[in-house]
Amino acid sequence: MSEQQHGHEAAQKAGFETRAIHAGYEPDPATGAVIPPIYATSTYKQDGVGGLRGGYEYSRSGNPTRTALEGNIAALEEGERGFAFASGLAAEDTLVRALCAPGDHVVVPDDAYGGTYRLFDKVERAWGLEHNSAAVSDVDAVRAAIRPGETTLVWVETPTNPLLNIGDIEALAAVAHEAGALLVVDNTFASPYLQQPLTLGADVVVHSTTKYCGGHSDVVGGALVVRDLEVAERVGFHQNAMGAVAGPFDSWLVLRGLKTLGVRMDRHCDNAERVVEFLAGHPDVTQVIYPGLEEHPGHAVASRQMKRYGGMVSFRVAGGEQQALAVCERAEVFTLGESLGGVESLIEHPGRMTHASVAGTDLEVPADLVRLSVGIETVDDLLADLDRALGARA
Ligand SMILES: Cc1ncc(COP(=O)(O)O)c(C=O)c1O
Repeated sequence: MSEQQHGHEAAQKAGFETRAIHAGYEPDPATGAVIPPIYATSTYKQDGVGGLRGGYEYSRSGNPTRTALEGNIAALEEGERGFAFASGLAAEDTLVRALCAPGDHVVVPDDAYGGTYRLFDKVERAWGLEHNSAAVSDVDAVRAAIRPGETTLVWVETPTNPLLNIGDIEALAAVAHEAGALLVVDNTFASPYLQQPLTLGADVVVHSTTKYCGGHSDVVGGALVVRDLEVAERVGFHQNAMGAVAGPFDSWLVLRGLKTLGVRMDRHCDNAERVVEFLAGHPDVTQVIYPGLEEHPGHAVASRQMKRYGGMVSFRVAGGEQQALAVCERAEVFTLGESLGGVESLIEHPGRMTHASVAGTDLEVPADLVRLSVGIETVDDLLADLDRALGARA
C-alpha cells in the first residue's frame, strides 16, 4: 500500500473533524502543498496513447481537485464513493437518470424543497417518471404511496424545507427496501456533521453543497454519496455521460468549507437555540417550528438520529401574510434572501420566494410562514434584529 493510500485510510477511520480536514487528499508528493491545488486544466498529457497518470484523461471525467472533494464528502458521510456536481439539482437529476427508467415511479416528500418538486413534476415526469407525494414524518403514508414493482426510489428530506418535518431514516429505509426500492436522503439541512443517513440504512445521500457544506454563500454545488459499488458505477457513468460536474474552483471552495463544518454547525445550532427561545416567548409569534423543541412531533426521532437540531428555524406570525412579509423586509442583520447554510443569517418568505413554484399544489406552504437560516454572527445582534423586525405591526 502506498503512503498516500495509507494516509487516506487513516483519515477515513478518524473522528469527524479530522476527516473533514484530511480525508480525500494527501499533501502533494511533488511540492508538499497542504491544500489541493485548483487544477484549472481541461485535459492531461498522456504517457503514450492511453498512458494516463493517475487515471486522469479529461476534466469532465475526472479532475484532481474534484477528486479530493469527492473523497472528502464520502468520508464525512461514511459512504463508499462521493460525486460532485455543478448544483444540488444537477446531482438530483443525475441520480434519477442513473437509477430510474421511464415508466418507473418515485415517492417524494409532500413538503420537499420547491426546486426538487419542480424537477420531478416538470422535468422527470416529461421523461416518463411518475411521482406521488407523502409526508416524510408518516412511515405508513410513505408505505401506502409506494407502488410495488414500479417504485424505484423513496426520496426524503429530513429535516424538510421549510417546515422542518422529520423522517425516521431507519424506518423509511426498511419500508423502501421491503418494496425493492432505494432510499435517497437529501441531507442538505442537517449536513453530514449532524446526521449520516447511510449509517442508518439509506442508500444515497444528496447535498446541495451550496448550503452548509460550502458554508459561505460563495458557491453553487451539489454532491451524491452512495454506499454500494454497483450504484456508484451507475452514478459515475451518468456523471460523466451527462456532464453536470463541479468545476475545479467550485470544488475547492466546497472542500475548504467542509474543513470547518463541525465548528460552524455547532455555532449555527447554539445561535438557533437562542433564536427559538426568543421567538417562543414573543407575543406576535403564533408557532415556532424547530425539531429541538419538545413539542415538535419529530423531536424524539430527531434526538435519535441527529447530533443536534440544526440552524434552520421557521415560525408563523400573527397578522398573516402581510405581517410575515413586513418582518422579512424590516430585518437588517438577517439579510432578505433565498438560500441557507452560510455564515450570515438569512430571512425569507417561503410562500413568495423559495417555494413559489409549489403554490397551488399539495406542497403549498402557509402564507404566514417565515424561514430563518440562523448564521454565526453575535447572537445578541440576531435577537435584537428579530425584536425590531417583529416589533411594529404592518
Ligand atoms: C433541501 C435542498 N435540496 C436541494 C436543493 C437544490 O440545490 P441547488 O440550489 O444547489 O441546486 C436545495 C436548494 O435550495 C435545497 O434547499
